[in-house]
Amino acid sequence: MKPLYLAPMEDVTDPAFRLLCKRFGADRVYTEFVNADALVRDVASTTRKLQISDSERPVSIQIYGKDPDSMAEAARIVEQAKPDFIDLNFGCPVKKVAGKGAGAGLLRNVPAILDIVGAVVRSVSTPVTAKTRLGWDESSLFLPDGTPFVVDLAERLQDAGIAELAIHGRTRSQMYRGEADWTLIGEVKNNPRIHIPIIGNGDVTTPERAKECFDRYGVDAVMIGRASFGAPWIFAEIKEYLSAQRSFSAPPRSMAAKVAVLKEHVLASIQWIGDERKGIVHSRRHFAASPVFKGLFDFKQTRIALLRAETRDEVFAIMDDIVARYS
Ligand SMILES: Cc1cc2nc3c(=O)[nH]c(=O)nc-3n(C[C@H](O)[C@H](O)[C@H](O)COP(=O)(O)O)c2cc1C
Repeated sequence: MKPLYLAPMEDVTDPAFRLLCKRFGADRVYTEFVNADALVRDVASTTRKLQISDSERPVSIQIYGKDPDSMAEAARIVEQAKPDFIDLNFGCPVKKVAGKGAGAGLLRNVPAILDIVGAVVRSVSTPVTAKTRLGWDESSLFLPDGTPFVVDLAERLQDAGIAELAIHGRTRSQMYRGEADWTLIGEVKNNPRIHIPIIGNGDVTTPERAKECFDRYGVDAVMIGRASFGAPWIFAEIKEYLSAQRSFSAPPRSMAAKVAVLKEHVLASIQWIGDERKGIVHSRRHFAASPVFKGLFDFKQTRIALLRAETRDEVFAIMDDIVARYS
């Protein structure tokens, strides 16, 4: 069976959501990224992000930073939490990260990336993986000799000890705009010098597209991010499409069954965060994006009410009403 991974996402891939995705067949889940410097300083809100449980394995904890010593120290701290993988973020495009020379900011300084990888790989025995983008911007997608930047980077990362590489098919300057370009991901995978697993990422939103990514680009795994919002069953839907075998929960099919999963997620979020209102606010991203609530006739007011509700009872009553009206 072709593996499907849940992408690392800040403020999204907490234990509550990871476990749901796992139940629906995600073959690996990632924590949201963890700031290496804050880990080293032992900031409580950051160390909390290291909480993982056996039931979500295999699980990868992702760290970001720009200083090799701090990244190595952070990796040693992360290793105590016993993740299956430690992932290094070389792809985050947001200003507060890339603008400070971490995440995708490092794509302008490959020697610095290799220093970080060397320092981290030397300090832990857990497999170290990396996640990156195609390059900094359109003009740096290819080296002067015509080799794609990311093909060259992948070779260097492999030589430096990276065990697996995930590639999001966009440049840093694209942020999340435009379409992910999988052709360069395919070139990395088809480079005969590359023997580490290559994980493709970007804009996989349907079973058909996931199959195409495996078939056309040959990647070893497909990583799914935004399409899982309010739809953790996407992993099951894709697996069902790819194969008749079921080693995972079947996807819920009716609106009522899907809403039951969303309610479960709300409860799990409240429990994880330890506060009803905050747990609900945290769940709103999923309500807003869930395919369950897309395209419903005359839904605007209900949608506003759903995104404003502040108690569990209110949210559940609105959801029950939606099921009654639309299914
Ligand atoms: C809200 C949000 C938070 C993200 N946080 C992270 C992160 O912490 N680490 C990381 O490597 N990528 C992060 N990403 C990028 C995703 O992992 C993924 O590469 C990107 O969304 C493209 O995949 P998709 O089209 O399947 O969503 C984030 C993306 C989103 C939308």
